[in-house]
Amino acid sequence: NIISTDTYKIRFKDEGYGHLNELITLNNYTNIYVLVDENTKKLCLTRLKEKASFKFEIIEIKSGEIHKNIDTCVDIWNRLTNKNADRNSLFINLGGGVITDIGGFIASTYKRGIDFVNIPTTLLSMVDASIGSKTGINLNSIKNQIGLFSDPLTVIVDTDYLKTLSKREINSGYAEIFKHSIISNSNFKKLVENPNLVYDEDIIASSIELKNKVVKKDKFENDVRKHLNFGHTIGHAVESLFMNKKNKLLHGEAIAIGMICESYISSKINGLEIDKANEIKNHLNKFFSKVSFSKSDINEICNLIKYDKKNHINIPKFVLLKDLGLVETDINVDMNLVSTSFDYYSVKL
Ligand code: GLY
Repeated sequence: NIISTDTYKIRFKDEGYGHLNELITLNNYTNIYVLVDENTKKLCLTRLKEKASFKFEIIEIKSGEIHKNIDTCVDIWNRLTNKNADRNSLFINLGGGVITDIGGFIASTYKRGIDFVNIPTTLLSMVDASIGSKTGINLNSIKNQIGLFSDPLTVIVDTDYLKTLSKREINSGYAEIFKHSIISNSNFKKLVENPNLVYDEDIIASSIELKNKVVKKDKFENDVRKHLNFGHTIGHAVESLFMNKKNKLLHGEAIAIGMICESYISSKINGLEIDKANEIKNHLNKFFSKVSFSKSDINEICNLIKYDKKNHINIPKFVLLKDLGLVETDINVDMNLVSTSFDYYSVKL
């Protein structure tokens, strides 16, 4: 089971490691670096060492979205420079979305770009962050403000790493699986009727394929790739708001809130049946506990949305549903409606 993108292949488990081992022998890299955080160092490195027939150096950064910034990059570029890492080095990103985003960015810019490989260890990075060639970092609290499209050499999806995750992290990844099913109207009923399918390997592979199909049509996000941003206009703002608070939200937790609010907005101005918005909300509520928003939180969310990088000249552009599998982009939404959508999110159906 291999999934082909335009430029590289996504392989599963042993097939992936086997290919990586061959590739490394073939390319004769001067140095191989594995980027980890304290969690993947502790929980995932043993498995990689078991599977890898090559020697590597470990580069560790602190975990968390808050560290996905330029200071961390400067630190790693300095470490690579001090180690005399040359252009014929390989960078392997072993971790969740933060590691694959920042690691891809560091590798793509160090000496104008060295080869890199993604080994996603969270459900979220398996089905989303590690595939699709987006790399990048946050600027202050603006998510992914700096970055570039850059292809890994290959991606290895090994669901064994999922055993290292908490239920909360698994659910966070599931938000993106459910998003893929909403925007493509694939597996929707199946997922809604079987909330236990979160770990299902076929669902994971099919979710990767759904995303890959979209990316293949429009890698640089001029058109259909924008569909993947469903739930993300509000979701990113929610995530940014909580980034500086004590009780941070995981990406998928914020996106789940965004999908509930944007489904409601879709029902108000884009023709989505309210029953479908309710179905989406009810299903997501099985996985995520309710978050409270004060009036000032909602005002701040509206301000953050105005500075979303997907906007044209500060007019917020939303991705809304007309139906399951029927998505429309570049829609203007009044901020009062954004605010009301949080009332919809907050009430029990
Ligand atoms: N996560 C959205 C995208 O890759 O385009």
